[in-house]
Amino acid sequence: MTGLSRTSLPMSRVVERHLSRRAVLAGGTAAMALATVRPVLAQSTPPFAELAVGLDDKDHVAPGYRAEVLIRWGDPVLPGAPAFAPGAQTGAAQQGQWGHNNDYLCFVPLPGAARPGEHGLLCANHEYTSTELMFPGLNAKTIADVRKAHTPAMAGVEMAAVGGSIVEVRKADGQWAVVAGSKYNRRLHAATAFALTGPAAGHPRMRTAADPEGKTARGMLACCAGGMTPWGTWLAGEENIQNFFMGRLADDHPEAANLKRYGSTGRYTWGTVDPRFDVTKEPNEMNRAGWVVEIDPLDPASTPRKHTALGRFKHEGATVVVNADGRVVCYSGDDERYEFVYRFVSKNRFDPANRAANLQLLTEGTLSVARYNANGTLDWIPLVHGTGVLTEANGFRSQADVMIDARHAARLSGGTPMDRAEDIETSPVTGKVYVAMTYNERRKPAEVDAANPRAENRYGHIIEMIPPGGNHAADRFGWEMFLLCGDPSKPEHGATFHPATTPNGWFGMPDNLAFDRKGRLWVGTDGNEPGKTGRGDGLWLVETEGPMRRRATHFYRVPAGAECTGPFFTPDDETLFVSIQHPGDDGPSYPAHGRFSSADDPSTRWPDFKADMPPRPSVVAITRIGGGAIG
Ligand code: FEO
Ligand code: CA
Ligand code: CA
Repeated sequence: MTGLSRTSLPMSRVVERHLSRRAVLAGGTAAMALATVRPVLAQSTPPFAELAVGLDDKDHVAPGYRAEVLIRWGDPVLPGAPAFAPGAQTGAAQQGQWGHNNDYLCFVPLPGAARPGEHGLLCANHEYTSTELMFPGLNAKTIADVRKAHTPAMAGVEMAAVGGSIVEVRKADGQWAVVAGSKYNRRLHAATAFALTGPAAGHPRMRTAADPEGKTARGMLACCAGGMTPWGTWLAGEENIQNFFMGRLADDHPEAANLKRYGSTGRYTWGTVDPRFDVTKEPNEMNRAGWVVEIDPLDPASTPRKHTALGRFKHEGATVVVNADGRVVCYSGDDERYEFVYRFVSKNRFDPANRAANLQLLTEGTLSVARYNANGTLDWIPLVHGTGVLTEANGFRSQADVMIDARHAARLSGGTPMDRAEDIETSPVTGKVYVAMTYNERRKPAEVDAANPRAENRYGHIIEMIPPGGNHAADRFGWEMFLLCGDPSKPEHGATFHPATTPNGWFGMPDNLAFDRKGRLWVGTDGNEPGKTGRGDGLWLVETEGPMRRRATHFYRVPAGAECTGPFFTPDDETLFVSIQHPGDDGPSYPAHGRFSSADDPSTRWPDFKADMPPRPSVVAITRIGGGAIG
């Protein structure tokens, strides 16, 4: 998320901050710029008492802060939706309830709210479903048992439990609550219709039996991280789409190579219920997933869209910044080993007075892939049909082909294969862009390069990208290795945290990123566990500028099996929403459980801790006791 996009509506504030940012980016008027942004102050002591690392069945926050559950999987979203009933779930009920495995969050202040940090619309991605933790009575001891016990009715619940949710939320007397029955409350799921925009919309490779025009795709699938635009819309990146599809195409099928890049794994059996999830029956359906989707939470009747101009790959997220010249830039990583980092630059310019025009900015522009050079420069290589290698001779007959096969185009064009690019965020203070590579334990010594400098990269790293003079649309950036993660006390890890980082302060597997308005980076992790880093996943504050650059401090820890996703600050920095995904997952790696974790025998029953309640992915609101900005 960018500071610009986190600005409260109305747009006058956006414009004000946009202008101050333009001053920064223009250079030469630095004094004026510094008067309008708060400088990052060097601090010798951490801004809060550090939380101790560990792992148990609960969540924990640093002393002086409160972490309270705001909404849980199964809680009613739409008016009339029933209360959550474990063991008696139906697809119809789930379509009105908060979905499973919440990931990215954004908070869109309601126009006219007296306190924009206390009243708005909370938007959440529901990335996927953990079948074994959703349904009691499966009598499963392995994932194979879960597959065998899976029924069409369960698939119906799961298809309704993915996608996204919007709820109106309000803070009163320091307490956040969902506004029940709000006209803004909305659910999107596997059957929701999305309009396709951009060069691939309507292309023959996007057409199916149910959609002969190829202009309407159903389903918001595998949405992982995302972004919020300066015009107050919510972006979500469709990531591991392959999990929802089953079947295999013959090697000579025209889409075989394309599908192979993703792999249809048959993790779910949805294809037995709905043929579009069986690639042998509907080979083009998977071309209609893997995009950045845009949803307008302020207009509950609006049709959500999938923007094909931003390319099709396993989008971790989509982070928007308004460039100094008004063009809109969207950064996105592809979270798979040896895939790429991308940038989209809009053709048209952001107009703070014309929201209708802004809603079209992501439909037209240029997608580029990043090549990180060893000399500290970064080239953005445009993926434009008919230029370079993107010609018919190489299988690209149109820009639609380039967008549908963006991964293939990026590889042929010379992008740098990365160690699983996760979230990307831009500092609201410096304009530098940060991208987390979570890990790639498979990188061989011969494959090491400057931007992925460790073989068997088990702990991940964070790269800092530097737009020259703040120009996010420039062809060439600078870049620097910001942070190599791992245990600084073990030289073999090669970690580069600031020496003032305590034994609680370091982490591995960086994933979701957020900036506060002071320009400090907050890193959510995915994959820490006792056998790997001796700690559970959570959230760490990492300073990016000044003498304490690279010092990390532990702030929040999630329950066993969970991942800390979706960190998002309200515009006043007084609330930090986090999304607790898949609590109770992966029982064997949690020593206190040590066996398969299921709804009947979970490693945690967070957050309800009731005998009949499975663990429930939930959103937590973190506030400072006594009020004030976080950290
Ligand atoms: Fe859904 Fe890349 O994590
Ligand atoms: Ca992620
Ligand atoms: Ca991850």
